[in-house]
Amino acid sequence: MRTEACFAPPSEVATELLAVLAADAQTTKGPDARPQPSLLTADPAVQAAASAVLSTGEFKAGANETVLLHAPSGLAAKRLLLVGLGKQSKATVHKIREAAGTALRFAKPRGIRELALALPSSKSPLDAIVLDAATSQAAAARAAVEGAFIADFDPDTYKSDRKDQSIQSFTLVAPADADRQAMESAVSEGVIIGESQNFARALVNEPGNKLTPTMLGQRAAEMARQVGLPCDVHSTEKLRELAMGAFWSVAQGSAEPPALIVLRYEPEGAADHPVLALVGKGITFDTGGISIKPADNMEKMKYDMAGGATMLGAMRAIALLKPNVRVIAIVCAAENMPSGTAQKPGDLQTAMPPAAGKPGKTIEIINTDAEGRLVLADGLTYARRLGATHLIDAATLTGAISVALGKSTAGVFSNDDSIYARFAAALQASGEKFWRLPLGEEYADLIKSDIGDIKNTGGRYGGASIAAEFLHTFAEETPWIHLDIAGVAWVDDAKPYIAKGPSGVAVRSILEWVRSF
Ligand code: BES
Ligand code: MN
Ligand code: ZN
Repeated sequence: MRTEACFAPPSEVATELLAVLAADAQTTKGPDARPQPSLLTADPAVQAAASAVLSTGEFKAGANETVLLHAPSGLAAKRLLLVGLGKQSKATVHKIREAAGTALRFAKPRGIRELALALPSSKSPLDAIVLDAATSQAAAARAAVEGAFIADFDPDTYKSDRKDQSIQSFTLVAPADADRQAMESAVSEGVIIGESQNFARALVNEPGNKLTPTMLGQRAAEMARQVGLPCDVHSTEKLRELAMGAFWSVAQGSAEPPALIVLRYEPEGAADHPVLALVGKGITFDTGGISIKPADNMEKMKYDMAGGATMLGAMRAIALLKPNVRVIAIVCAAENMPSGTAQKPGDLQTAMPPAAGKPGKTIEIINTDAEGRLVLADGLTYARRLGATHLIDAATLTGAISVALGKSTAGVFSNDDSIYARFAAALQASGEKFWRLPLGEEYADLIKSDIGDIKNTGGRYGGASIAAEFLHTFAEETPWIHLDIAGVAWVDDAKPYIAKGPSGVAVRSILEWVRSF
C-alpha cells in the first residue's frame, strides 16, 4: 500500500474517497440530550458538504459509525466518508487508529482502491479533539497509518478465487499547522510498524501443515536477510548440545524437527548493557500431545506460535526503526504431537542448565498439554546464557487467561516493578490492552513436585498465574515480563477496523518497550 502525507486542505485532495473524522460533542445528560456529531476539521468546504447529513441526526458519530456521501459538492474527492470516534471527551489517539482502519475496511470491499484520511486539526472549530496524555499530531498520524495497514490485512491467502482487493494508496491529510517533517517521519514509522504487525499476523494465519517449525525458521531467516539481521536456525542437534531437555520433551513426539530461531540486533555504538531478549512460544500446532485436546476447536491450535510470530514481527520493526539498544530474539518452535516417541504424563525431564557446571532443574510432566511453559523454560535460560539482562516473553500460554480477562485484554506478569512500569508506559503509545496479574509463592507452592524440582501444572484455579510462576522459576532474578496472549491473539468476530483472524497483538507494545531503553 503506497502511503504518503499530504498538506493540502482536505477539500482540495483529489481521491476516490476522503474520510473525515467526527466526534459526538454532546456534554449534557438527561432525557432531552441528543448526540451532537461534529466534524473534526476546520475546512469550510468539508463542513458545508457534510452539513445536510449532520443536521438529519441519522449519523451520531458513534465509534466506528460511518456515513457515505457521493459527489460531495465543493470537494475534489469523489466520495466523502464520515467516520465516528464516539464521545469527543473520550476520544483518544487509539480511537483514531481504529477509525482509520474503519475507513479503509469501508473502502476495501467496495472496489475503492485509494483513500485519504484527514487528521483532526488542532484548530478545528470544536476546540480540537481531546487527545490523551503523550499525544501529539505526530502520534495521531502514526496511529492512523498503523490502523490503515492493520485494516488492509485479510487472511485470504488460500482462497483460489482470491481477488486482490488490497488498497493501493493511502494518503494522510495533515492539518495545515502540522510540522511537515514530524508528519513525514510519523507516516514512515507507521508503515514499518503496521507492516511488521501484519508480518506476524501472516505467520499466525498459516495452517500447521503450511508452517512447520522448519518452515517458520525459513520465514524468519528470509525476513532477517531482508532487514539485515543475523539469524541462526538450529534444530535437534543444537538442542542436544545445549541440553535443552524441556524444549526437546515437547519436540520428541513429532516427526517434524524443532527449530531454535535466534535473531540478533546489535547496533553499532550501542552500550554493552542492557541486552534485551524477546522469547517467543512457537508451537506450530498444539494437539495437547498424549494429554490430547478434545476435537472441538482443536484446529485453532495452529495459532499456538503467535508468541513467536510476535517476536519476529517486533524484530522486523526494530531492525528498520533502529533503536540504540541490543536485542536478541529467541523463538522456540516445535509441534506438540502424540506418538510412540511422545513424552508421557509422569515423565521426568531436565531443563537446560542455568550456567555451565550447574544442574538443570528437573520437571515432572503432569499434563503434556502444558507444553508452552516447557519450551519457554529453555528459551528463557538460553537468553540468560547469551547475556540477556532483561527478558520479555510472549506466549499463547493458557486458556485460563481468557477466563480471567476475556478476549480483548491480555495478561502481563513481571518480577520487577521498574521493568513493568516501562511496559505500562509503552501501552500508552501502542494502544494495546494488557492487565497485570500476580505471581507469588502461593502459586509456586502449587507446582512443587514430589519426585523432582517442579511439575508442569498445578490445578485449575489461577492457571495463568501458575503458568507464569513456572516461567519465573527459569527467569529467576533477571528482570522479566511475561505476556499471556492466548485470549487476544485470534480475533473471533470481525470488527469494522480489523478482519477476523490473527490480531498481531503485542508486536506494538513490545516494540515500544524496546524503544524505551
Ligand atoms: N496452547 C494452549 C493454550 C491456549 C488455549 C491457547 C486456548 C489459545 C487458546 C496451551 O498449551 C495449553 O494447552 N494450556 C493448557 C494448560 C493446562 C494443561 C494446565 C490449558 O490452558 O488448558
Ligand atoms: Mn497445550
Ligand atoms: Zn500450547
